[in-house]
Amino acid sequence: MIRKIALSALTALCLATGGAFAAGGAGKVTDYDFSFEGPFGTYDQMQLQRGLQVYTEICAACHGLQYVPFRALGYDGGPHLPEDQVRAYAAFYEVYDAEIDDWRPATPTDYFPESGLENAPDLSLMAKARAGFSGPYGLGLNQLFRGMGGAEYIASVLTGYNGSEKEEAGALLYGNDAFGGYLSMGPPLWGDDVEYEDGSPTDIESIAKDVSAFLMWTAEPELNARKEAGFIAVLFLSILSVLLYLTNKRIWAPIKKGKASSPAE
Ligand code: HEC
Repeated sequence: MIRKIALSALTALCLATGGAFAAGGAGKVTDYDFSFEGPFGTYDQMQLQRGLQVYTEICAACHGLQYVPFRALGYDGGPHLPEDQVRAYAAFYEVYDAEIDDWRPATPTDYFPESGLENAPDLSLMAKARAGFSGPYGLGLNQLFRGMGGAEYIASVLTGYNGSEKEEAGALLYGNDAFGGYLSMGPPLWGDDVEYEDGSPTDIESIAKDVSAFLMWTAEPELNARKEAGFIAVLFLSILSVLLYLTNKRIWAPIKKGKASSPAE
């Protein structure tokens, strides 16, 4: 019986680590610091806005975000753009409207387009689909404090090009240490690719981190709210425990007193 349990536990462990490895590749992921890590970490609104800019100016040429509605850009806990900016941003895109059988400028209720380049994956959920910290040291508490490492993985891919190239079936592939092999996306970032209005640094690592934080938000837009709710729940339970403890003491006080005084009688 115990052998059976041990065996199935071992199998589960292998599946868990094996699956995550397959998803994230066996590459080298740098443990970048992000504001949303840890039980109390939240998104940095300005960083999300910078990340949106990087996505728009660079990644959107090939990658889509088809599960993200434009209106989400205005939500609290996200980039939190003012309503007129969300409207103006959406209007940059064109969507096909079956009702009028024609293309029209997008409105906040429309979604980002799909990937423009056929073999480029949609990035909406990429930060949740890839795990940076899986494998031997990704199990357990680590994930509570540092997350699954999806954002770290993306930032590491963007900064992980090692300069080697090879041709396969007529297509050029680029060596990437974080991917753990060759991928068909050439290095999209070179440093100073964008100009930030808030004067934030534009070296390749900073830009990579900004866009990765943004993609973490597209994959988990409710993170701030979830952590807030968790915090309130813990606070509530703590207060409740104190009250219960005091009530308990009070209810039993006469009996305890009676017991203490009984031998003297
Ligand atoms: C010129 C087109 C192009 C641009 C620009 C581009 N990508 Fe890619 N990207 C691709 C293609 C193609 C793939 C598929 C690579 C493969 O699987 O071999 C890809 C794959 C990826 C992956 C998945 C890697 C994996 O683990 O499978 C991520 C993450 C990614 N891109 C992020 C970005 C980000 C972030 C940007 C903007 C900074 C960006 N890309 C810009 C074409 C592009």
